[in-house]
Amino acid sequence: MKYFSLLAVLLVSQQVIANRNPVPVYKNKNTPTELRVTDLLKRMTLDEKILQLNQQTVGDNNNPNNKGYKKPDFPAGIGSLIYFGSDPVFRNTVQKRAMEETRLGIPILFGYDVIHGFRTVYPISLAQGCSWNPALVAQACAVAAKEAKLSGIDWTFSPMIDVARDPRWGRVAEGYGEDPYTNAIFGVASVKGYQGSKLSDTYSIAACLKHYIGYGMSEGGRDYHYSDVSAQSLWETYMVPYEAGVKAGAATLMSGFNDISGIPASANPYTLTKILKERWGHDGFVVSDWGSVEQLIAQGVANDRKEAALKAFMAGVEMDMVDDVYTQNLKKLIAEKKVPMSRIDDAVKRILRIKFRLGLFDNPYTPIVDQRYLQPESKAIAQNLAAESMVLLKNDRHVLPLNDHIKQIALIGPLAKNQADLLGNWAAHGDAADAETILDGLTKEFGQSTQINYAKGCEIDGEDESGIDEAVAVAKKSDVIVVCLGERKNWTGENASRSTIALPAIQEKLVKELKKTGKPIVLVLTNGRPLELVRLEPLADAIVEMWQPGVEGSAALASILSGRVNPSGKLDITFPLTTGQIPIYYDMRQSARPYAGKYQDISTDPLYWFGYGLSYTNFVYSPISISAVKIHKNQKLTATIEVANNGGLKGKETVLWYISSHASSISRPVKELKYFEKEEINIGGKRVFKFELDPYRDLSFPDADGKRHLEAGDFYLLAGNQKIKFELID
Ligand code: NOJ
Repeated sequence: MKYFSLLAVLLVSQQVIANRNPVPVYKNKNTPTELRVTDLLKRMTLDEKILQLNQQTVGDNNNPNNKGYKKPDFPAGIGSLIYFGSDPVFRNTVQKRAMEETRLGIPILFGYDVIHGFRTVYPISLAQGCSWNPALVAQACAVAAKEAKLSGIDWTFSPMIDVARDPRWGRVAEGYGEDPYTNAIFGVASVKGYQGSKLSDTYSIAACLKHYIGYGMSEGGRDYHYSDVSAQSLWETYMVPYEAGVKAGAATLMSGFNDISGIPASANPYTLTKILKERWGHDGFVVSDWGSVEQLIAQGVANDRKEAALKAFMAGVEMDMVDDVYTQNLKKLIAEKKVPMSRIDDAVKRILRIKFRLGLFDNPYTPIVDQRYLQPESKAIAQNLAAESMVLLKNDRHVLPLNDHIKQIALIGPLAKNQADLLGNWAAHGDAADAETILDGLTKEFGQSTQINYAKGCEIDGEDESGIDEAVAVAKKSDVIVVCLGERKNWTGENASRSTIALPAIQEKLVKELKKTGKPIVLVLTNGRPLELVRLEPLADAIVEMWQPGVEGSAALASILSGRVNPSGKLDITFPLTTGQIPIYYDMRQSARPYAGKYQDISTDPLYWFGYGLSYTNFVYSPISISAVKIHKNQKLTATIEVANNGGLKGKETVLWYISSHASSISRPVKELKYFEKEEINIGGKRVFKFELDPYRDLSFPDADGKRHLEAGDFYLLAGNQKIKFELID
């Protein structure tokens, strides 16, 4: 009895203590997120709120474009940090300060540029698009997310889904090429890979769609420049991947550096608020690009930092990346009644919401594990993706694959024994030492039976021809020449534009000399943009576009050269014949005189169109079948096409389905990609590929405010070399 009364007293007193010090609603993980957000917001002071809207950096910045901004110190209650390190213990120490030394214990959100892998670097995004395998891209992003998460990162500034049609622009490497639909599909795949089924999953990190919007249109391919984007192009080209990414649940977006036809992307109420928040209902937040709020002054729309803060914040940029413009000005702007508290509250809620969704309040610390990186299953994904991304551009007289008669391979070129440049730009914590050289990859693949004779020939750049004689001598004693040319990794990426997309003359000279030996030449390209190959292409018997393939690239290349893997990549971007042809992309509008208006001095066609890519086998397309020749607007059309493998090797084929329309109230591109599917087909086998066409989704088009129109008329469906007409009726 005595025992029970003691227990009762204890329980009652505990209750009294709990009532006096109840666990705040925002700390209770069983409470719905929105209630937690509102509860926390209620408790915050204005200073605490403003701190949430800020991002600073910690660690050694490895981006040369941002170096000058390094900040050694930051307040414990900062909203977010770009964490350049990879040590979870350090991150946890910083996080502990936020959790334990601030009044409310709001966790910091740690972000980083995890672009194509964290340590297990996989191919650059431009290459990934050529795989036409979004499921594999999602797997690679999930590997990156796990490695990043275990290194203290909660948020990646990726994917970049800026449709890019000017290969002089260095950032063309970071997106999925020239087509809006392709960028949408791969953007969504990577969001799903990073974010998993929910943000609070153990290895999920938040994604960031960037750079919203129109950055890919930078004039002349010069980085950070003006982008003249008509409202029509904005909607039918640039918005497409963003709308898809937002619908797929991307937690955040980054506003761009560019000035969109006079209203900069980081101060654009139409794109940032009217469309993103109001029309699409995005409830996460927008972070500025590095200093892009302050840069509104340079762009000529703000007189000073205060006005820049006002414009960006009121337009819809919630978090200020590194430039402290919000911390220094928002309070004054509120006092002057230029910024209402409701906007501050909305912005803070958006940031807190993502922190809650990520589970940061409940699990603020990174678990410490030993084996974080380069796990066998992660490397296997990186290798498959590298192999599927490579594009066979030429293969005269079946030079490839290199068969058993080849006893000696001359492996030549500045990229043949190179590791660093295989990783590409923005390679996060990638280590060149993790990447095997092409020489090592080929030596392993071909084993004892084939001798590899290596000579560098020349450097990537410069005028030194002294190595060419040795390369020629090596070529003469070999059965085939594999010549590895390309770009340095820092020739693409941020602030890495080039006036010509040709390779340096020294590399072309090397191949010219090798050609004189009469030996077959296989040209292997390592680059981050389409190249001008007009002089090199005639010298080569085969060309493999390897891109910047990541740590497993050499093994993947070797598997293709030996024929163990049949190449299956197709270009996600057009290769112009010459730099002067830029811009050139497959979904241009029809000219008024399609038969005229050509260049006088060169062909008007590019060297390789979007969608081009060869296989070692032979795929034959049958005519397209459709379920009806006339459909109503509310009716679906089923289209099928049979593809037969008539060659001597099994292989994967991607069927790209395009539509083209006859006439409409707003002119349409020559053709538009609407769907694709990649399948393996055995030797002698056939496969039926199917496309369920939904008129509203696939045949409608946006106007200059994004409103979609579906108009009756004649349409064509195209796949491979096949084309069929159908009619849409009311
Ligand atoms: C500037 C780049 O434009 C952006 O893509 C990147 O995410 C940020 N810097 C952060 O490093």
